Amino acid sequence: MEETIDRGGSPSVAPVLSVDDLVIEYHLARGGVLRAVDGVSFEVAPSEIVGIVGESGSGKSSVGMVVAGFTRAAGGRLVFDGDTTESWPGASTSGRPGIQMIFQDSSTAVNPRMSVARIIAEAIARGGRITREHLDQSVGYLEKVGLDTALADRKPRELSGGQKQRVAIARALAANPSVLVCDESVSALDVSVRAKILNLLVRIRREENIAIIFISHDLAVVSQLVDRVVVMQNGAVVECGPVREVIDRPQHPYTQKLLNAIPRLERTTVTAQETDPRSTATKEEVS
Ligand SMILES: Nc1ncnc2c1ncn2[C@@H]1O[C@H](COP(=O)(O)OP(=O)(O)OP(=O)(O)O)[C@@H](O)[C@H]1O
Ligand SMILES: [Mg+2]
Repeated sequence: MEETIDRGGSPSVAPVLSVDDLVIEYHLARGGVLRAVDGVSFEVAPSEIVGIVGESGSGKSSVGMVVAGFTRAAGGRLVFDGDTTESWPGASTSGRPGIQMIFQDSSTAVNPRMSVARIIAEAIARGGRITREHLDQSVGYLEKVGLDTALADRKPRELSGGQKQRVAIARALAANPSVLVCDESVSALDVSVRAKILNLLVRIRREENIAIIFISHDLAVVSQLVDRVVVMQNGAVVECGPVREVIDRPQHPYTQKLLNAIPRLERTTVTAQETDPRSTATKEEVS
């Protein structure tokens, strides 16, 4: 599948997700409406990793929340797995089953009283009663994300930040999604743990055939991982293309500004990184 991704820009295979002219508005408590996202469009191919970068407040999380089905859009169209969502589903706490989201701090997204095994089993059960079989199956997901199965009985507060993110990824995988939205999912982790989680995401897209939308304010991190990048400023897309091209030849002054913000040492690493989607094996070694 990855071989058929056109390096020139949009994916040449049928996208798993198309976002078309998305508009997101917030009704402010003091009155008035804030248009946070205005006419954003992009596509995601099966098992492709697409980065969304931009400064704080540019609208990245808003896009992620609407794509995952947690908030309602004011306008636009979403085509997911061939189905058009003309009328966007209203805000819900469960989102869309086929699109799972992982946040910066997964503690807030899980029940603190549940064991790790139960958190994952709950996702396998899809809202139904959790059975012994679901709990047994949860162990397989722990293995998938590289967690010691002895952690199955622990509560989230008894885990490190990196372990918590792995549990969040395991829970997302248990829902059998085609798209994973990661919103600043490695931003709170230290550099070595971050690299391990990035490697896990690369392995997941390859082994599970899952596409990933990777949201980050940090272009240096994004460049280590993604195939294509969408650059957002003030709720709009200013540039979009294969990450290598965007980094080597940024077309927009805002992208140039984001690149200049990367410390010199990291920029050298970014330029040296192999980012061709056809050579994920090289990316696997990112650390
Ligand atoms: N629930 C909300 N109510 C009102 N305004 C909101 C709400 N959520 C976000 N906004 C506003 O929408 C704009 C986009 O916010 P968003 O969180 O999508 O940005 P972001 O790119 O994810 O920023 P960050 O990098 O800081 O996470 C900002 O101006 C923000 O203040
Ligand atoms: Mg955000």
